[in-house]
Amino acid sequence: MEALKAEEFLNELLSCREAFWEKMNAERKSYGAEKPLSPAIVLRRLQFGVVMERKAAEVTARWVGQIPDLDLQQPMSEYVVNELKHTSILRKRIAELNGDPDALWNQPLKELKELWDYHASLESLCELIASVQFGHEEFFPRTSKSFIARVESIDPQTASVYRDTLLADEAGHEWIAPEILRRYATDAKTQNKCLEALKRGCELFGKAIQSFNQSLPA
Ligand SMILES: [Fe+2]
Ligand SMILES: [Fe+2]
Repeated sequence: MEALKAEEFLNELLSCREAFWEKMNAERKSYGAEKPLSPAIVLRRLQFGVVMERKAAEVTARWVGQIPDLDLQQPMSEYVVNELKHTSILRKRIAELNGDPDALWNQPLKELKELWDYHASLESLCELIASVQFGHEEFFPRTSKSFIARVESIDPQTASVYRDTLLADEAGHEWIAPEILRRYATDAKTQNKCLEALKRGCELFGKAIQSFNQSLPA
């Protein structure tokens, strides 16, 4: 198989991701992802965020030293710093709410662990980027918007953490993943592996989200 041109390859990844989003978003209501929030659910959601932010930083950090071009290496190292900063912000908010910041970190749901073990097992920077930053991290602003809308009336401080910090930073690093894939995933073998990683990552992410929602207090 011949390698796709960069834009064709990115379009292929994009259509896989969006097809998955359509499917997952249609299912979300069925397992209660949009139900009204209670303080206990808000706390759990913040604890879930701690795992997602910290793991995104950890699985990415090991590849930063291998990014050939400084104009991508530097922003990617800042990405790692940002995700760890978000972890700290979420942990602080949980402590303010008298919760355990590391409840899910110390005892992750099986499906959540599977998701991050998979990312940690990937064998190239491009596969990781396709699966995490180009893949399910793109869903974060979408699911956060509905969370912010629902949390605003019961916990405006938490709504502000999401809206003014986490989401604001997210917008600043969205350009990096497509640029890395455009520049480094140029042969057919790597492109195929990236597509596989994106699909598997989305699948595991969907399972983790479902398991998380089903674990929420009634
Ligand atoms: Fe983040
Ligand atoms: Fe992020």
